[in-house]
Amino acid sequence: MSMTLHDFLLAKRDARLSELAPVLAALAQACRRISTAVRCAAFTGQTGLAGSGNVQGEEQKKLDVLANRLMAEALHACPQVRAFASEEDEDSTPGSHAANPDGVLVAFDPLDGSSNLDINGPVGSIFSIQPGPPGDTVGTADFLQPGRQQLAAGYALYGPATVLVVGSVAGVHAFTLDEARGEFLLSQSGLQIAPDCSEFAINAAYQRHWHAPVTRYVGECLAGRDGPRGKDFNMRWMAAMVADVHRILQRGGVFLYPADQRASARQGKLRLLYEAAPMALLVHAAGGLASSGHEPILDILPASLHERVPVLLGARHEIERLNDYHRQA
Ligand code: AHG
Ligand code: MN
Ligand code: MN
Repeated sequence: MSMTLHDFLLAKRDARLSELAPVLAALAQACRRISTAVRCAAFTGQTGLAGSGNVQGEEQKKLDVLANRLMAEALHACPQVRAFASEEDEDSTPGSHAANPDGVLVAFDPLDGSSNLDINGPVGSIFSIQPGPPGDTVGTADFLQPGRQQLAAGYALYGPATVLVVGSVAGVHAFTLDEARGEFLLSQSGLQIAPDCSEFAINAAYQRHWHAPVTRYVGECLAGRDGPRGKDFNMRWMAAMVADVHRILQRGGVFLYPADQRASARQGKLRLLYEAAPMALLVHAAGGLASSGHEPILDILPASLHERVPVLLGARHEIERLNDYHRQA
């Protein structure tokens, strides 16, 4: 029988993850509750807009607000969490044990891809776990650490199955929710991304706004076996980064949400601290790369909690090629 997440952490298969067992258990509990909320929304009055906006000017869905509350409740109850920060809240929130010297910081996107809710498409949650600051006070500025310093990261994908993917620099593991038992069971260990691929993901609706390196890369993929790449490429776009990254961890590929010339996307769209950096940690740990086009996402020092960043991630040789195209431009 498969191992539960709890037993996996007890077995110290990855010492870094085992040290974070209480916070990973809290996150798993929140994701299990969000999974139920997403699946039952139609008969619990949780469909549609909340009638509010978040700090980034985005309209919130009722489930964005509920998922945020479920994450906050679980993290607040966890003595290992000194503070947490969410896509949906302007500032970070102190935990119940803000002065715990061994405590950590958690940044999260409670519900990613929420435009998919209306169509029963895949959505997810993303989280990043960082070391806490020295001393016994903690605030929003303490979250402004480069992604390399993350202790662990992960996401839950609420698809046909709910899958919790957790990783540290030492490796990435997937746990599938057994709904009957209410337990996450180990389903894959040591996920790897092949260095080459023939599948890419980008929202092509923004093509006319792209910068030259992205236009060149996608153009060459689309030219297929008749073009300079000499092979055909397939295209996928899930409208939820969690689902696109999960596909890449399963069968390879690249995901691109670059900066473009729209005023709203000058720095890209995705947020560094709770979308790009945690996914970058997982992708690197699986042998892939994550880049802004100009530098590794893991090296970027955030200047603010909700900072955006261009994201190019996945198969190593493809991201190296994209970095070359940016250098040449
Ligand atoms: P969120 O729902 O948390 O705001 O994030 C959605 C993100 C990401 O998941 C997805 O890849 C991207 O936005 C889609 O953006 P476009 O609608 O611009 O394609
Ligand atoms: Mn998101
Ligand atoms: Mn979100």
